[in-house]
Amino acid sequence: MVHEVRGIVALDKGSAVRLETILVPDPGPGEALVSVAACGVCHTDLHYREGAINDDFPFLLGHEAAGTVEAVGEGVTNVAPGDYVVLAWRAPCGRCRSCRRGRPWYCFDSANAAQPMTLGDGRKLSPALGIGAFVEKTLVAAGQAVKVNPAARPQAAGLIGCGIMAGFGAAVNTGGVSRGDTVAVIGCGGVGNAAIAASAIVGARTIVAVDVDSRKLEWARRFGATHTVDATATDPVAAIKELTGGFGADVVIEAVGRPETYRQAFYARDLAGIVVQVGVPDPSMTIDLPMIELFGMGGALKSSWYGDCLPTRDFPVLIDLYLSGRLDLDGFVTETIPPDGVEEAFARMQRGEVLRSVVEFPGR
Ligand SMILES: NC(=O)c1ccc[n+]([C@@H]2O[C@H](COP(=O)([O-])OP(=O)(O)OC[C@H]3O[C@@H](n4cnc5c(N)ncnc54)[C@H](O)[C@@H]3O)[C@@H](O)[C@H]2O)c1
Ligand SMILES: [Zn+2]
Ligand SMILES: [Zn+2]
Repeated sequence: MVHEVRGIVALDKGSAVRLETILVPDPGPGEALVSVAACGVCHTDLHYREGAINDDFPFLLGHEAAGTVEAVGEGVTNVAPGDYVVLAWRAPCGRCRSCRRGRPWYCFDSANAAQPMTLGDGRKLSPALGIGAFVEKTLVAAGQAVKVNPAARPQAAGLIGCGIMAGFGAAVNTGGVSRGDTVAVIGCGGVGNAAIAASAIVGARTIVAVDVDSRKLEWARRFGATHTVDATATDPVAAIKELTGGFGADVVIEAVGRPETYRQAFYARDLAGIVVQVGVPDPSMTIDLPMIELFGMGGALKSSWYGDCLPTRDFPVLIDLYLSGRLDLDGFVTETIPPDGVEEAFARMQRGEVLRSVVEFPGR
């Protein structure tokens, strides 16, 4: 059976996204059909529609979702119909060279649904990050559906499927932030603020939030920043150094994805400090750094793919932190919107008015 549903599609580069009819097949072997309850709008969705990720239009956008498993295909054992799940864009294969070396959080062959979802005219859709969840029902590899506690409302729980997990993991998994560390986070959108919240939870001593928008800095305080720096008024590198005894931070997290903020992160760390790049640059961007500084400052320059997370290990932990009141996922949900509100949500995101707009599917 083919399910005819409505979903948000980017048909071509730069054009406004549209609500289209989507055809979703029943799950085949290893697949799960998920009824989406809520899905957050991430900056990466906008990168897709701008053609900054790749040119495989049309894209079925949305990838921060929670919902209920409706049906599973042959051989699926990790989830069953009725299970409440958050969708992950990493489902470690267990067989690639990275998984076999015991590093499944880098899995180079993460599983996605084998069957395509299509537009009404038969054109195959590229699901954003192998998910595609601005749609009433979506088809994923069963391994992408991670069971979590149904007490967590979907508008909040879905966010750990991308931005929150990416920011949280960038700090804790990739950057190894722990008790007593000094941390700076450049770019305090959903991802940056999740890095701030994570740093606070694990006991970082100083957490400097940097943004060009004062509203974002107010949010950052709420999530645990000890200091804020408005980069339109103050040089962030000098400010971070001043707030860390003149030395720079142990870990600097770049959550914008631009050369100038990467450069700031590079210079705002202490000797042997760590830069974690979680912001996604576009393919035209380059950066020029003196080799003597690369050597002389030591430490590590890391990028963080999805916060180096293992969804089955980390999602339930974040949900527990939420349900026990220690991770304010609700604080990231600035507004809930109907499915056809995504284009306006992109504009609000670009104007800095939201941390997350969350699409709700009625009746779920
Ligand atoms: N690595 C991953 O796995 C992963 C996962 C999700 C998102 N991302 C990426 O992380 C980045 C942030 O995503 P988001 O959803 O939080 O986006 P967002 O638009 O909500 O936040 C970006 C923030 O950066 C701020 N900013 C812009 N220019 C700045 C500058 N020059 N200095 C300081 N701050 C500046 C903006 O004001 C905004 O608050 C995006 O590039 C997104 O694609 C990466
Ligand atoms: Zn693998
Ligand atoms: Zn995302």
